[in-house]
Amino acid sequence: MTSINIKNVSKSYHNYAVLKGLNLDIRDGEFISFLGPSGCGKSTLLFCIAGLEDITSGSILFDGRDITGVSARDRNISLVFQDYALYPHMLVRDNLAFPLRQQKLPEETIRRQIAWAAEMLGLEHVLDRLPAELSGGQRQRVAVGRAIVRNPAALLMDEPLSNLDAGLRVKTRTEIKRLQRELRMTVIFVTHDQEEAMVLSDRIAVMNNGIVQQFAEPMTIYREPANQFVASFIGSPQMNFLPGSRTAGGHGDGRLVGVRPHDLTPLPDAGGTDGFTLTGELALIEPAGPVHYLDVVVGDQIVKATCNDPASLRLGERLTLGAPPNAVYLFDRESGARI
Ligand SMILES: Nc1ncnc2c1ncn2[C@@H]1O[C@H](COP(=O)(O)OP(=O)(O)OP(=O)(O)O)[C@@H](O)[C@H]1O
Ligand SMILES: [Mg+2]
Repeated sequence: MTSINIKNVSKSYHNYAVLKGLNLDIRDGEFISFLGPSGCGKSTLLFCIAGLEDITSGSILFDGRDITGVSARDRNISLVFQDYALYPHMLVRDNLAFPLRQQKLPEETIRRQIAWAAEMLGLEHVLDRLPAELSGGQRQRVAVGRAIVRNPAALLMDEPLSNLDAGLRVKTRTEIKRLQRELRMTVIFVTHDQEEAMVLSDRIAVMNNGIVQQFAEPMTIYREPANQFVASFIGSPQMNFLPGSRTAGGHGDGRLVGVRPHDLTPLPDAGGTDGFTLTGELALIEPAGPVHYLDVVVGDQIVKATCNDPASLRLGERLTLGAPPNAVYLFDRESGARI
């Protein structure tokens, strides 16, 4: 429905720079996540796009048109927040109707739009209830419904699932994804949950300290992280980082070697890999369903590895781990840049 271009956008609060010259080109109909740790500027950037915050410099374009000076209400953007912010004294149907009544649309149009949104979100049977009579997941769906009934140019969501329990989070995120596909809507989704960003997004903007560290498709970010921050933020358990001097292969001291636990597995006794190897003492075996996680002590460091079948492993024994050459990453120790 709408492409969004963010051009060299900076934002400061009293000389404190929160966003530092960001550039993002979001395509029409894309599902984008802003992912990063608390305080990195995700919500601020979202509010700048919605027009709830002014930017200090740069420009924002919708469909090629500069809307930097346009007020929030004229941007035709919908926002969904973590706390659903439904009107507690209004029935679900009136909550859904609210943005349409504000636009003074005919009641017949409003009725049609409510019926459409309710069907889309499976809310038909709760239309005549109050928000207090709904489950958390239903409340979140009403908030999403209220955001989409008026066909916004884009839907912006700020950690919309963080009040839901784990199971409901997964279910609701699937629904949001389906909805976005059906409506071919441009969605920006703020989260600090890397798995959520991975499964939902066409592309992820990984942010830290008010800077976009990398903007790419989920598997590109996982397999080709731009720097150590991105590599450590994406993937669970976290990537291992070892000083270059500790590993065979002459990686040198100025470098860090990164390898993901899922790429690092015990080698058969005979050894014999042309890839990366590491030897240490097996300290812990953690069953995690499809795989087991292994803690291996190498020098003064605990390295996480994985294996499918731990039957032949003994705690306290020496263990050699190996990873294929293309799963080993090098980073500059000082700057964190990928080498
Ligand atoms: N109105 C404000 N005045 C001054 N500083 C602010 C204001 N709003 C946000 N900040 C600061 O800007 C930085 C970014 O805040 P922001 O809310 O964008 O972070 P976030 O990435 O959304 O974090 P979280 O994951 O915790 O929601 C923080 O350091 C915050 O303290
Ligand atoms: Mg936030």
